[in-house]
Order: sequence, then C-alpha cells, then structure tokens
Amino acid sequence: MIIEPRMRGFICLTAHPEGCAQNVKNQIEYVKSKGHIDGAKKVLVIGASTGFGLASRITSAFGSDAGTIGVFFEKPPSEGKTATPGWYNSAAFETEAHKAGLYAKSINGDAFSNEVKQQTIDLIKADLGQIDMVIYSLASPVRMHPVTGVLHRSVLKPIGQTFSNKTVDFHTGLVSQVTIEPANQEDIDNTVVVMGGEDWKMWIDALKNAGVLANGATTIAYSYIGPEVTEAVYRKGTIGRAKDDLEATAFKITDDLKSLNGKAYVSVNKALVTQASSAIPVIPLYISLLYKIMKAEGIHEGCIEQIQRLFEQRLYSGKEVPTDEKGRIRIDDWEMREDIQEKIKVLWAKATSENLTEIGDLAGYKQDFLNLFGFGLNNVDYKAESNELVTISSIK
Ligand code: NAI
Ligand code: NA
Repeated sequence: MIIEPRMRGFICLTAHPEGCAQNVKNQIEYVKSKGHIDGAKKVLVIGASTGFGLASRITSAFGSDAGTIGVFFEKPPSEGKTATPGWYNSAAFETEAHKAGLYAKSINGDAFSNEVKQQTIDLIKADLGQIDMVIYSLASPVRMHPVTGVLHRSVLKPIGQTFSNKTVDFHTGLVSQVTIEPANQEDIDNTVVVMGGEDWKMWIDALKNAGVLANGATTIAYSYIGPEVTEAVYRKGTIGRAKDDLEATAFKITDDLKSLNGKAYVSVNKALVTQASSAIPVIPLYISLLYKIMKAEGIHEGCIEQIQRLFEQRLYSGKEVPTDEKGRIRIDDWEMREDIQEKIKVLWAKATSENLTEIGDLAGYKQDFLNLFGFGLNNVDYKAESNELVTISSIK
C-alpha cells in the first residue's frame, strides 16, 4: 500500500517501513564513518527499537562489532495496517547486522514483566553465554508491577506549585500558555515506579542471579537535566523525581556488581525529538529554540551523534570515565553550555506564534518528528507501494 503520515496529537498513527529502514541505514553509516570503538562485544539493549536505545544498539554493533539482543515493545503490522516505527527499525537493524556478520536477535514484549526477563536470560544462555554490557533505555507511560500486579501510570506535573509557561503545538506552530496543576503524592509515587530505577535494578539482579553477566560487566541508563525554563515541569517535577531515583539506583547497582568488578553508569543526554519527549509540555518549544542555536553554532547532534560520542569519548576512551559531582556522565555538555543557555533565555522571552519559525527551528522539529515514523527522508520513494508486512527475522 501507499503509506502516508496520519497525525493524531503527539503521535503519528502510521509508519513507513522503507523510511524507517533508511533511518537505520543512515545511523549505521554515521557510526561506521567515525571508526572503531573498543567497546563491549555482547550487549543487551532494553528499549532498543527507537531513540537513544536504537542508537545504542547501532553504535554497539557497527562501532564495536558487538552481538546484540534488543528488547522492546512494538506493535507488529497486520494486513493494511502498519507496524509501529520501532518494529520496522528493528527489522532493518537485524537485516543490516546479519549482512555484516553480526549476531542480532530481538524480543518483543513487556520489559517490566518477569516473563520477558526470563526469556532474555534463556536467549543469552542459549546463544551468548554471558553479556558484558546492559543498556537500559526504556521510556514508557505505564508499568505493570510484576510483584503486585498494579498498573502504574506516570504523569508529567510540577510539584508543590502550579506551573504556567509557554508551550508550542509543533504541528501548527501555535505558541500558547499552558497551566499544569501540581501533582499529588500518588502521582509522584506512580511516576517513580514507572520511570525510576526499580526495574533497572530488577533486570540486573535477574541477570546476575542467572549467571549471565560477565566479569567486568557494565550497565548504563539515560537521564536528563535541562534548563531553568523546563525545570518546574521536568527536573523538579514528577519525572525529575523518577530521574533522581534512577540516578540513585546506579550506586546500588554498582554495589551489587562489585563481586563481578562491574559498574553502573547514568549518562545525562541532550534534549531531542523522540516519541517520549514530544509528549512533554514545554519541551518542544525549548527544543525548537535549542536546535536553532546549536545548529547555528555547528554543535547540533541527534541520538546517533550523542551515543556515538558517549561511547567513543566517555565510556570507551581508554581513560577513566569522566563524571560530574553526582557521578553522572555528561553528554549534555554542549546543550548546557552557558552561552547556549543564555541565548535560549533571550529567545524564550520573545517567542510567539508569529516569530517562532524565524527565531526557532520549528521546521527542524517537524522534520525530526516525521523522521521518527520514517517519513520525510531522502532516498525514499513515498509514492511507491510499500510492503507493510515486514517481519523481524529473529521473532517467530
Ligand atoms: P523512545 O520513546 O524513543 O524509546 C523508548 C523505548 O522503550 C522503545 O524501544 C520502546 O519500544 C521501549 N519500551 C517502552 N515501553 C516498553 C516496555 N514496557 N517493554 C519493553 N520496551 C518498552 O524514548 P527515548 O527518548 O529514547 O528515551 C530513552 C531514555 O532516554 C529515557 O530514559 C529518557 O528519559 C532518556 N532521555 C531522553 C531524552 C530526550 O530528549 N528524548 C533526553 C535525555 C534522556
Ligand atoms: Na530508546
């Protein structure tokens, strides 16, 4: 069928298989162009199908010739109905990895469940024996707790006071005022259960107890800090509490991994257009200003540039891994540069519906958003018939 984007709110209901494949190929080419990284060889990526997780899988495979197992939660296609983009991305990734002679298998299911953890352990035992790196890159609005059976929902709210600031509807370019009432304790607790560190630790405990973590195994999860303008709703809001918890969990996991000489890291990454971030109020306006400024300075990066730099220059540089005063790796260093943030403040105060296409990179935002779903890429014939019924070779 001919597949076109069908937007609804923060998501696109369709995805383009050949476009998603092109996206993956572009990321692979980028990583290959940057040369070999002396990184991990057997890598598990949890949240491997889109965004930072996909970039991590690609960087491991095509930067360090790693065998990878990818875990994700995506919708497969059916007759006349496209899959979610992560499905097509993963299919393309496996095809390219196999062409390059690299081991790559995937598991599609709820990473929060005991079943998927066990399935992953069984696959590692059968195929790889042990793994030496676990990348934890889940972004989910809900989590079914595997012990209590309770379905928790995360929320994006400020804490302690009502938040009111500018936001943009990136489809229409309309800048408006958004007001968000503060979270209650239950909201905070739920968000921490979904996006905090508990599940990350459960994964590492399960893998360690099963004996599938190699000596010296490391694990990394991704966090965000961001600027003052988003602080009340992000870092000091409910999601920030979850990130505090995630960051604190890294120290607990490092303790657990001492007997294996292993270590847990958190990397603070740059704000980028992904399915997860486009749903957060205020962030799209910030990102469109940030893109404009970083592109003008020649320091703009997407997920693949961020992760390639994280692996090459932080994790596997051969030197001690540099961290901040809270033990975090900072690959948001260019976003957080004082001159960049000063410029954002000035533009933020000025931004209106009338001037945003001028002072911000709304076009770049929209382009990246379309690209997430495989649309708007070069070298893809969007007028041609697509085969939506793509299979992932390792998933029966
Ligand atoms: P994303 O939405 O692109 O990727 C989420 C991944 O999690 C996908 O592979 C999806 O299939 C998987 N997933 C979701 N629920 C699942 C479940 N129940 N079971 C198995 N897999 C599941 O998100 P993105 O933006 O790459 O986020 C990854 C991490 O990076 C998050 O911790 C996020 O907070 C962090 N981060 C994101 C930033 C951004 O601006 N996008 C900035 C800094 C950090
Ligand atoms: Na991801």
